[in-house]
Amino acid sequence: MYQTIILGCILLTTVYITKRSRDQHLNLPPLVRYKIPLIGHTLSYMFNSEEFFKQCRKEYGDIFSLYIWGKVITFIGKEHIAEVLARDDAFDFGAVFRKRIPGDAMFTNIDGFGDPKYNAKVVKEYISKNLGLYTERMQTCLNSATQKYIGDFDGQKNISNLYNMMTSIISTPIANVFIGEEESKYDDVINTFAEFTRDVAVFFMIPPLFDLIYPGLQDYIIRIPIRLGLFNPATKHEKVLIKHIKNQIDKRLREKKQYGDSWKRPNDILQNFMEEESFDPNNINYAAVANKLCIFIFASVHTTSRGCTNAVIDLASRPEYMQELYEEQLEIRKKADKNGILPFESLKEMKNLDSFIRESLRLTGDIAALPHLALKDFTFSNGLQVPKDRVIDLYFDDVIQDEALQGINPKSFEPFRHLNANVTASKVSKNFVVFGGGKHACPGRFFAINEIKFCMHNFILKYNFRTESGKIAEKMRVGPITYPNTNGIIFEKRIK
Ligand code: HEM
Repeated sequence: MYQTIILGCILLTTVYITKRSRDQHLNLPPLVRYKIPLIGHTLSYMFNSEEFFKQCRKEYGDIFSLYIWGKVITFIGKEHIAEVLARDDAFDFGAVFRKRIPGDAMFTNIDGFGDPKYNAKVVKEYISKNLGLYTERMQTCLNSATQKYIGDFDGQKNISNLYNMMTSIISTPIANVFIGEEESKYDDVINTFAEFTRDVAVFFMIPPLFDLIYPGLQDYIIRIPIRLGLFNPATKHEKVLIKHIKNQIDKRLREKKQYGDSWKRPNDILQNFMEEESFDPNNINYAAVANKLCIFIFASVHTTSRGCTNAVIDLASRPEYMQELYEEQLEIRKKADKNGILPFESLKEMKNLDSFIRESLRLTGDIAALPHLALKDFTFSNGLQVPKDRVIDLYFDDVIQDEALQGINPKSFEPFRHLNANVTASKVSKNFVVFGGGKHACPGRFFAINEIKFCMHNFILKYNFRTESGKIAEKMRVGPITYPNTNGIIFEKRIK
């Protein structure tokens, strides 16, 4: 036993020393000075990230490294972010994510979070190309979900932790487009869509204390309870999905056989999965289909709900913009059919709303986000180098603070600043990196923006809303990442 531990320590030390001496040949980014060994910059990163990063950038330049949770992480400022996003041969976003969220242990039926190329293709081919097809269903679902979760009432309704409720509203059309009209009507399906990401994201919430003992140890430790069958936050959701997917797949196969050419093909991702070459109707692995869906639930629900919640709270915080947005929506509403459904084209006409949403996304408030793993030694255009296996993170706030990139008062919320620039909320650009950029820019962004627009269109026409405090509701911060404010938002039914 002792021999094994000693041998293990010698091996780890040798690997560490070999790697260190190899890295020392590179022109590494400056490591910001720190005083406390092991802790390094962890406390400033967790509790004072905005000011701390500003100071680091001022003293060390556009690329600098910090010692956080026992690991050196390099942060990339505005001048070099595009190089990271453009070079998928050198930097991988999914790799860091796959280590921190143990998909490989949770989803044993598929290869962890699946093949990133395939995932992007699914979203592009099955969703983005069919946005027009999904417009009506998206609106019907959002109307009924808004009615169900907020509803009609006299007087006021005070909703605290709006994000929690928003995950259910946003999940309703997503579930419909993913697994079809019939199964998405069940509450357990909506709950699974709404709660899956939150439950699985528990792994992001655990501070990586084991990494202080040895970098990477945390990733190993968090997989142990899952592999031993003691804890798997995905299991209960997988069971719900398997039950409903099985219902639906079996029904579709049966009806297709029964009705032949007159069978009406459902339009949703599940049907697309069933038409893939690898799908064998005689040997169906329902768990694998459920696991595959989990990937897209993970990518879509939290991100869209967070964006939509922030947009609603940003408007509730600034009621002075409500009238202008209301008038725009009222005008657009005239194009609705007898069932209250707008044509796809009206999304384009929501210009003020689109600019408002882009501004809300722009000011999401993450200081640094989108960590990538260096797949090889890489030299930036300024000559600084990062070694293979280094985690590099993007200093988003550096992009946001820049007047040349954003225009005057870059950190102030100017809802209509994007109207003149003629850029829509889904347009990725050098000054707007919420959806990443380059080849891997989020393929689901068009779907997400459409959903947020339809959702806000409803809210604005139906309710007046404001913060309970009457003040601007600031985002909650955990380290450099933000979460929507949880304080009360007062909804009042509009008198028509
Ligand atoms: C407001 C909502 C959303 C935000 C802020 C968001 C953000 C992002 C970001 C930052 C990336 C990484 C991009 C990069 O590496 O450059 C990404 C990738 C991705 N997103 Fe989204 N996303 C949203 C909604 C969605 C939705 C609704 C879906 C699916 C329907 C989706 C599916 C994906 C997929 C599959 C990738 C990986 C793309 C690749 O690796 O090529 N996202 N998203």
